[in-house]
Amino acid sequence: MSKPLEPDRAEREELAEAILTYLNDWFDSALTMEASGIDLDPAQFETLAGGPGETGRRLDEILSDLDLAGRAGIYHPSGGHMSYIPNAGMFTAALGEFLAAGLNRYTGVSAAAPGLVAIEHGLIDWMTSLFAMGGDASGLLLSGGSMANLTGIVTARTARLGERFGKGVLYVTRHTHHSAAKAARLAGFRPGQISVVEVDDHLRMDLDRLRRAIDADRDAGREPFLVIASAGSTDTGTIDPLPQLADICEQQGLWMHVDGAYGGFFQLTERGRERLSGIGRADSLALDPHKGLSIPFGVGALLVRDERALVDAHQGRGAYLRDEDSYMGIRDIASLGPELTRPFRGLSVWLPLQLHGIAPFREALDSSMDLAMYAYERLRAIGGIDARWVPDLSVVAFRFDDDELGRAAWNAVNEDRTVHLSPTIIEDRFVLRMAILNRRSTVEHVDRAIDIIEKTLIG
Ligand SMILES: Cc1ncc(COP(=O)(O)O)c(C=O)c1O
Repeated sequence: MSKPLEPDRAEREELAEAILTYLNDWFDSALTMEASGIDLDPAQFETLAGGPGETGRRLDEILSDLDLAGRAGIYHPSGGHMSYIPNAGMFTAALGEFLAAGLNRYTGVSAAAPGLVAIEHGLIDWMTSLFAMGGDASGLLLSGGSMANLTGIVTARTARLGERFGKGVLYVTRHTHHSAAKAARLAGFRPGQISVVEVDDHLRMDLDRLRRAIDADRDAGREPFLVIASAGSTDTGTIDPLPQLADICEQQGLWMHVDGAYGGFFQLTERGRERLSGIGRADSLALDPHKGLSIPFGVGALLVRDERALVDAHQGRGAYLRDEDSYMGIRDIASLGPELTRPFRGLSVWLPLQLHGIAPFREALDSSMDLAMYAYERLRAIGGIDARWVPDLSVVAFRFDDDELGRAAWNAVNEDRTVHLSPTIIEDRFVLRMAILNRRSTVEHVDRAIDIIEKTLIG
């Protein structure tokens, strides 16, 4: 028999309790869980990919399928997850997302839910003030760093080049996250309009080379308009020289976009603020609450120094909407970005910030930096390891004298499953990374991984 689409209160409670119990078990196990799971076989994949039937199924059967589906892959909630960019997730943020979906209010235009839109604008104001971006600053929550980079690039293009951008040139490095070049392509730029500036020995954008590239492009009749700087690269956590890049952009009339998707929220810490000095001079800044604040996947942010630029870049209004794009002085979020209908993303960020306050988020980021330094100090004392890059934030990247041994060490760590690592390639060499951003990561996790690496090198 099909379940009605409008379960009564008793049924709602029963369903919610079963799901809450399932989730509570998951959160309890998160403290000790391994970092990766088991493989599923093809028959299991086939079962999971089966479509819905005409009548519904029992929730316990459905949860059992979900459980099976979730067993495969990398377990982000585990403290042993140190690959890619970690995100532990957070119970209170999950409740915020549940609440937002349950309330199902419309936050694309402010007249539909002015109080809720004000909450999101308040979060953005908190973020812009964190970076001292000034009174005209604005922004919006998007689905993640890729969309924040895309929206930032489109805004820069409109502000600096207008409708004719065929000669525009933007500058990145090999270590700029690939979502920036992808976004540039989506924003209508040809590959030749994306200039890859060489980096220095610390993998930071080389300032002289950038200056020379800008001059050469101008001499050739092109229009340099945008520098994309990293505030914590994914590969190595490296911060580009932000104050100097801001100076160059200012002198040359270029837009400065900073990708702080991974590193931006370290601004909450004292050390982070020192290392990210200059970040607030960005014209636009991508941040990811779903990285630095552990909010469940699906929340990024774009901050822009001048709201006007965002509005100009996102023109377009249906005849069926009100003429004004604000209500009681509260700007429509749809006027600031590409989406019209959108989830009430702010609730999964606002609820935990309100409940916990900022301090525990700061402490978690600080601990990640401490743990990264601990890992770095241990690694650099091991023969056969070349820990040449002192971590700027919380990614520890290191080479091996012998790449093949490095690959063997990586495989050994991942086969153990206590810790999961993902490597990268820098200057054609295998580079292993310990990306530490999960508040559940401990010295024991780090030691376990490094012990295995050391053992592999000793043979
Ligand atoms: C520095 C940086 N920028 C951008 C992105 C893309 O963000 P998202 O995966 O949220 O789209 C990432 C993802 O890891 C990143 O590390």
